[in-house]
Amino acid sequence: MAVFVSGSREATEKFAERYARTLSPGDTVLLEGEMGAGKTVFAKGVARGLGIREEVTSPTYAYMNDYGGRLFHYDCYRIESPEQAEALGLADYFDAGGICLVEWSEKIAPLLPADAKRVIIRKREGDEREIEY
Ligand SMILES: Nc1ncnc2c1ncn2[C@@H]1O[C@H](COP(=O)(O)OP(=O)(O)OP(=O)(O)O)[C@@H](O)[C@H]1O
Ligand SMILES: [Mg+2]
Repeated sequence: MAVFVSGSREATEKFAERYARTLSPGDTVLLEGEMGAGKTVFAKGVARGLGIREEVTSPTYAYMNDYGGRLFHYDCYRIESPEQAEALGLADYFDAGGICLVEWSEKIAPLLPADAKRVIIRKREGDEREIEY
């Protein structure tokens, strides 16, 4: 894995925009990192890199936001169990042909595609973030 050091929210978004070009339809990326690390900021950049014009907002309450079938952005923080996620149909999108970005994926570990990619964002001093990808 490689590491990119970001010094600002904007730098993370720009990096994610470039990272998006390495993705193919059907890919799943697990976005890892503590609260406030920048996972949703990264997702906004990926959406921009994919040419999605809709504003990307945190799907905390909806669990998953669907951007035209091209991008599915998950936030599993409030999911209680993999069974709940499966009952809600959340696993169906992993092979729907879009790119899936998943925050708090550990909540639904048994449902994740085995070949998922990972991006780990670590908070450092102030606005600095270490992004391993
Ligand atoms: N270098 C940076 N990269 C990304 N975000 C940064 C950076 N520096 C500061 N921030 C700030 O950190 C916050 C990151 O918020 P974000 O919602 O993306 O976190 P998250 O990892 O999705 O958290 P949660 O687990 O609660 O969903 C934002 O307020 C953003 O402005
Ligand atoms: Mg988030």
